[in-house]
Amino acid sequence: MKPELRVALLGDGFMGKAHSNAWAQAPHFFDLPYRIRRKLICGLDTPLLHQTAAQWEWEETATDWRAAIERDDIDVIDIALPNHLHAEAAIAAARAGKIVLTEKPMANTVDEARAMVEAAAKVPNLVWYNYRRVPAIAFAKQLIDEGRVGQIYHYEAAYKQQWGADASRAATWRMDPKQGGSGVADDLLTHVIDTALYLNGPMKEGVAMAATFMPGRQVDDAFQAMIRFENGAMGAIMSTRFGIGSKNAKSFRIHGANAMLGFHLEKLNNLEFLDFTEPSTEQGVRDLMVTDLKHPIFGNFWRPGHIIGYEHSFIATLAAFLDALSKDEEFHPNFRDGLAVQQVLAGLQQSAASRQWVPLQPSA
Ligand SMILES: NC(=O)c1ccc[n+]([C@@H]2O[C@H](COP(=O)([O-])OP(=O)(O)OC[C@H]3O[C@@H](n4cnc5c(N)ncnc54)[C@H](O)[C@@H]3O)[C@@H](O)[C@H]2O)c1
Repeated sequence: MKPELRVALLGDGFMGKAHSNAWAQAPHFFDLPYRIRRKLICGLDTPLLHQTAAQWEWEETATDWRAAIERDDIDVIDIALPNHLHAEAAIAAARAGKIVLTEKPMANTVDEARAMVEAAAKVPNLVWYNYRRVPAIAFAKQLIDEGRVGQIYHYEAAYKQQWGADASRAATWRMDPKQGGSGVADDLLTHVIDTALYLNGPMKEGVAMAATFMPGRQVDDAFQAMIRFENGAMGAIMSTRFGIGSKNAKSFRIHGANAMLGFHLEKLNNLEFLDFTEPSTEQGVRDLMVTDLKHPIFGNFWRPGHIIGYEHSFIATLAAFLDALSKDEEFHPNFRDGLAVQQVLAGLQQSAASRQWVPLQPSA
């Protein structure tokens, strides 16, 4: 009989739904080493909480996340609350001996992130940088690790959304610096940084600038940086909520000595690949469908060519975490990986304020 994991999910919004789906679906696609029990979902006292609990079959609801952490009949705390609550909830959960998963950004400051790493030193932990488990991104990592790309010269990446330009949109916690942090950098740029550290390694130094386009807004709408990576590559990364024409466009392009790789989230089953070792007369960009059983992750879902979507990145992340947990192996991205993202972010934000190049911390 597989051991049971009793889960409390803190947060019932957009990510509450994505995580509910992951907890529900992971046992269907993966032979998990645990039986999952969706014990408790926590949110503000609104109809959404009861609707989400009913639709995703959570046994109980609660409005007090602290009480959820104190319960003895909960093994896992999964945090999908607004950013400013991540550190407090994760530290409390870790101190109570729970397995702790938290959404990105890991925290709103480096100090908070460091305190989270310390508190969770003895408990398994995860930060939901889910894009590492998009098969096309995992395959890009495989090609890089196998040497197919060679020395990387250029790493360009962006994460663009357009909703920030809609002045009629009701302000949420994302527009409040006390809850959401500095703005788009604490939000979308953290995904860009995590993927960059994953694919291209630590960053040595950077220079950045931020912009707020909407009059009176308290948070950054756009953030852009130039990076020098430790491997010598030049980086250009940006995130914006004013990327008109882009609903959810996370992308990267990598130029190496042997190949070019390109990825675009709005076509997430595909990876662009140009093999520079082929005769120049035969070179061209291949639009690979990363939907083969031999590709990483994909074979857990469907047969070749039967494409997957956004939600599968959460399912695959959770399954990989539970597999590592059962084998007592270290999982990535964990809190230390999340801290590395926060350190780079803080350096770039300092650069944007001082208009100076700054050193960026390598992975802690
Ligand atoms: N990994 C990703 O791709 C991704 C995507 C979107 C959001 N996120 C992150 O997920 C987190 C949640 O974002 P979201 O889009 O789900 O937000 P959301 O506003 O849709 O949902 C947040 C929920 O938290 C609940 N909540 C707020 N304060 C609470 C409190 N004090 N006690 C109990 N419940 C409370 C509310 O009921 C709300 O429904 C954020 O940190 C965000 O950055 C990650």
